[in-house]
Amino acid sequence: MIGSPDLEQIIADAQRVFANAADTATLEKEKARFLGKNSALTALLKGLSKLDPEVRKREGAGINVAKQRVEKALNARRQEFSDALINQRLAAEAIDVTLPGLRSSVGSLHPVMQTWERIEQIFHSIGFDVADGPEIETDWYNFTALNSPENHPARSMQDTFYLDAKDAQGRPLLLRTHMSAMQVRYAQIHKPPIKSIVPGRTYRIDSDATHSPMFHQIEGLWIDESISFADLKGVYIAFLRQFFERNDILIRFRPSYFPFTEPSAEIDMRFERGKNAGCWLEISGSGQVHPNVLHNMGLDPKLYTGFAFGSGLERLTMLRYGVDDMRSFFENDLRFLRQFT
Ligand code: DAH
Repeated sequence: MIGSPDLEQIIADAQRVFANAADTATLEKEKARFLGKNSALTALLKGLSKLDPEVRKREGAGINVAKQRVEKALNARRQEFSDALINQRLAAEAIDVTLPGLRSSVGSLHPVMQTWERIEQIFHSIGFDVADGPEIETDWYNFTALNSPENHPARSMQDTFYLDAKDAQGRPLLLRTHMSAMQVRYAQIHKPPIKSIVPGRTYRIDSDATHSPMFHQIEGLWIDESISFADLKGVYIAFLRQFFERNDILIRFRPSYFPFTEPSAEIDMRFERGKNAGCWLEISGSGQVHPNVLHNMGLDPKLYTGFAFGSGLERLTMLRYGVDDMRSFFENDLRFLRQFT
């Protein structure tokens, strides 16, 4: 019956209806109308049984072809819907590959912190214990225990920030002015041989090219039965050689005064680089631990001797990299800081 008006009409109707279906739901509903149990095609197929076998075969083939064409139209429209859906998704999820990516920037240690870690490693490698202590100190540990009683003139060199809170003796607590405050604390809880370094933050009312109100120091302490000034020189020079990675550093031990050492020396080093090349910069105070301090540590000064030093981490960093002004370390100018990554 193909070519018969009936079948051609059914096919044309189906093609038109399917093409006009606005969405898949409508399309699937229309499918029932043309291919379902109650469709014209199904009725025609059912009617075949009444026909002669010869005619049935011919007509049946025609109906089947018509059915295939209707199914083809249906599938073509289904395909259109699924293509449209995919295209819509692709458009929605489109990535503009020409946009710059989101960068996560990698940070690095501040140059002074790099110095801190480097010094810890060097001293650790020659048998020094690395310790830590409080930034808020008592008057006793910061001054009195270090042979600087109240009204001692040496205290005025280290004016600092005081807190409203008071210690057990009724003295105001303060921000430690030097890492030497850790000497007696450490010695009170460790037995000789005492061999430690204590890096940390310290505070003073000071601000210029070589002073900052907050700065970093490293305190070194070695006490045993016969530790001398010669040991101080040997250890300190060996440390500087490792720190600066060279043997020809120029340093001098200049006689000085600190209440907690006797004799005392300041250690100066010469700038090799930068605007200050040729100038000497003080990098450390040092000396033989004073008998009164040993006594405050609970040690017998007749039995024990030792040396101590306190070095500025900013200053060592300045010398290592040829930095002219200490304040650059605290201005947070990334152009400056990135040079040390
Ligand atoms: N604490 C001193 C200061 O900050 C430096 C110092 C001098 C530390 C002599 C010492 C020392 O350990 O023996 O000025």
